[in-house]
Amino acid sequence: MTKTAQLIFEGKTIDLPIVEGTHGDRAIDITRLRSEAGLITYDPGYMNTGPCRSAITFVDGENGVLRYRGYPIDQIAERGSFTETAWLLIFGELPTRDQLARFSAGLCAEELLHEDVKHHFEGFPPNGHPMAMLSAIVNSLGCYHHDLLEIESKGEFYLAASKIISKVRTIAAFSYRKSMGLPFMYPNPALSYCRNFLHMMFSIPHRHYDPSPEAVRALSLFLTLHADHEQNCSTSTVRMVGSSQANLFASVSAGICALWGRLHGGANAGVVAMLEQIRDGHRTPREVLELAKQKKFRLMGFGHRIYKSYDPRAVILKKAAHELLYKLGKADELMDIGMELESAALSDPYFIERKLYPNVDFYSGIILRALNIPVQMFPVMFAIGRMPGWIAHWYEEHLEHKSKIHRPRQIYTGQVLRDYVPIDER
Ligand code: ACO
Repeated sequence: MTKTAQLIFEGKTIDLPIVEGTHGDRAIDITRLRSEAGLITYDPGYMNTGPCRSAITFVDGENGVLRYRGYPIDQIAERGSFTETAWLLIFGELPTRDQLARFSAGLCAEELLHEDVKHHFEGFPPNGHPMAMLSAIVNSLGCYHHDLLEIESKGEFYLAASKIISKVRTIAAFSYRKSMGLPFMYPNPALSYCRNFLHMMFSIPHRHYDPSPEAVRALSLFLTLHADHEQNCSTSTVRMVGSSQANLFASVSAGICALWGRLHGGANAGVVAMLEQIRDGHRTPREVLELAKQKKFRLMGFGHRIYKSYDPRAVILKKAAHELLYKLGKADELMDIGMELESAALSDPYFIERKLYPNVDFYSGIILRALNIPVQMFPVMFAIGRMPGWIAHWYEEHLEHKSKIHRPRQIYTGQVLRDYVPIDER
């Protein structure tokens, strides 16, 4: 028997069904609330709203649990690769050796941009932000692949997903090269996904950049840990745009825009800026914490809407940052400052009471710095990583026949009815 919750309002009792997830999480189904009670729900920031059912990623924020398609993130991080994770998220199962080989070959086949796409970069100013270029050019891919604007078969979806996952890396690297005034380096199909990206970023004509295996592995880990995180701001944006049956290119391009903000994918750059301020003597860690507590500043890389304990991705990234610096024989003062700040925050009643812990962005910047990725590329790196998640969510929604256009309501608080006043009488 379906469980229900009862709402009693103005003498009327309304039964509202309970929806349950596989881990027992429960939600009140309010789809008939307005028609039966004349009420809508008011939930700024969607703190208590589940707009969909999803079988992609499970997060238990209280206990610091994250699983992709049921697999614990620490197992995937230790043993998987980014392309394998992309397949898992999008298609629901770990790929067989053959599936992975064909997927990787497909990504290689799609790595080049149409030559005309290169001209789009000429239209941007020299110091244009790579995140703006990424979003614009990913959207423009729809102009070059008309046949994939309407996805009507699994084969078409597979092709569109492969194109985006492969080309986003080329576009990202070209955006950086444009911002540096450097010539574009074409992708090399002989290289793995991550190695190829580093080649496009850092090779120069007649001097091939050959990153260490540790650097390649760290990049794959970074991307893997960013690959999905259920209904976050950017993924919800992708689903919102996709709900109007907008095409995949446009939908993920909107996700890139949503990711850019400092409270979301822009936080990793904010962390580095904050740590640099401390390093350069502009503020002490204590001053930073005091400003955060006075609400004049957000401690970047701290706090999370869902996690009320340590973000499991931050645990993995902190360890990986240490290992990478050690293996590359590098030191980074920002790592030490970050750890000092973290330990001060975690013993401060303000952060303890509010259950504010380091999130994925706190240590990710240290890894990106060790890979020589410039700070303005940090959100771009996040976007490359999050792409499989956005695509998986877009497709999940696309396949759901009962999926409805996302169209929230509001509580109107403006003027009541009044008559138009001619301009001379105002
Ligand atoms: N520094 C200081 N105080 C904070 C922080 C922080 N980083 N985060 C939350 N708080 C405080 C709030 O001021 C609030 O205090 P109050 O109860 O006294 O009013 C309380 O903690 C709850 O915070 P909310 O803003 O209600 O939490 P919300 O879930 O809306 O925000 C968010 C989550 C945006 C991540 C927030 O913690 C934040 O701004 N963090 C810093 C930016 C950041 O690191 N973003 C990356 C998030 S992970 C990601 O997107 C990949």
